[in-house]
Amino acid sequence: MRAPLVFIETFGCQMNEYDTELVRTILKGRGYGFTDSADTADVVLLNTCAIRENAHNKVHGHLGALKPLKEEKGLVIGVLGCMAQNLKRDLLDGHSLIDVLVGPDGYRSLPELLDKAAAGRKGMAVDLSEYETYADITPDRVKGVTAWIAVMRGCDNFCTFCVVPYTRGRERSRDFDGVVREAEALAASGCKQVTLLGQNVNSYRDGTRDFADLLLAVAEVRGIERIRFISPHPKDFPDKLLEAVASHPRICKHIHLPLQAGNDRILQLMDRTYTRAEYLALVERIRMRCPDIVLTTDIIAGFCSETDAEFQDTEEVIKQGEYHSAYIFKYSERKNTIAARKYADDVSDSVKSVRVTQLVELQRAISQKKNREMIGKTVEILVEGDGKRSPDQWMGRTDGNIVTVFPKRGQAGFLSSEKLPVPLSDPIKPGSLASVRITDATVTTLYAESV
Ligand code: SAH
Ligand code: SF4
Ligand code: F3S
Repeated sequence: MRAPLVFIETFGCQMNEYDTELVRTILKGRGYGFTDSADTADVVLLNTCAIRENAHNKVHGHLGALKPLKEEKGLVIGVLGCMAQNLKRDLLDGHSLIDVLVGPDGYRSLPELLDKAAAGRKGMAVDLSEYETYADITPDRVKGVTAWIAVMRGCDNFCTFCVVPYTRGRERSRDFDGVVREAEALAASGCKQVTLLGQNVNSYRDGTRDFADLLLAVAEVRGIERIRFISPHPKDFPDKLLEAVASHPRICKHIHLPLQAGNDRILQLMDRTYTRAEYLALVERIRMRCPDIVLTTDIIAGFCSETDAEFQDTEEVIKQGEYHSAYIFKYSERKNTIAARKYADDVSDSVKSVRVTQLVELQRAISQKKNREMIGKTVEILVEGDGKRSPDQWMGRTDGNIVTVFPKRGQAGFLSSEKLPVPLSDPIKPGSLASVRITDATVTTLYAESV
């Protein structure tokens, strides 16, 4: 009998991408194969996100589209990830298309559940764990220049708008040496950049060592040229961490520092545990110590009871923060969160939309200005692969994580010791660190030439 083929589609954040890699390892170990379309699969797994309503809608849309395949050839359908908890009811409904539901802490039981589903029995594993870190499972990654390592899971912050503490459970850190060993193995396989992941990555703790210690230890792994991390919470940004970022040449000068809102009353309703002044003081401290830093952020517009004047405070902070880019979201009420229980979602959808558009426009102008300030500068790019638009271009990122595109070298040239023209082969390949001069810039992309 041939191995059953699985197609996995992943929604949501990098943590979900990472979890999909863990799931692939777990299934491979039990003899499953993989395919890249639902048409050729025996099992389709959707690794889902629950952060906003549109994340939910997407999954429902995909499930609907799988219905004909399920009826035609008895496809097994599994829903994994953050939405699994919320779909419990659907599974209990006999007509549901879903056979298997597995939350972020239940992936070890996936093979058993799929076996049962193949025999016609639905099942789920949606309990959250205080300990599961999958530390012993090496993710099945696509071999390449960049890789993620989840160093902690879960979140204890309970920002009032956010579903993550409910879908991913309590904070827990992986063991320190295990993370360093994983980085060493990645370096040995040719990986050049590691991104340390966690919902609150900077609250990483391993008994005696903290996140700055971990960052510095991974930065010392030979062969890893760049180390990034997401997402830090502004409440946990001690000088020791800033010092590590500022002083270590291989720790990237990029900090994603989610603001959410620029007004103190709203920040308090969100329970973000900082004030506008404290947040801005942190930005100031970071910029003083590390003037080249690239800052990015997340914003929620139209949170419960946010007035126009309070919204303008967010605009003000965006101007002062001078972010290189920002993710800007409409507030989306999530069932069972503190905000859903305590506050009315009373900003109308049209007002939320206007506010989002306003912030997006403001940020686009700032992003464009910041990118254009880089024209003429020479920077180092970690080359990731071909440009999206053309195979004659390389695509890579600056240390600050800005996408940069530059032409490959392909034309004939002269070697100084010879008279004949010879084709100069391009010494650059994916994984190279290339020195380039920025020649042009848009809101999202830098254009450059090799130097
Ligand atoms: N742990 C990260 C955030 C993870 S969620 C942190 O605290 O920085 C990513 C982003 O989604 C959040 O920063 C927030 O801006 C947004 N988000 C979370 N819940 C949301 C909701 N209910 N409505 C709209 N946006 C939300
Ligand atoms: Fe959600 Fe706040 Fe935790 Fe981020 S820190 S995952 S926004 S509860
Ligand atoms: Fe979404 Fe879960 Fe990530 S809700 S953003 S997939 S932690």
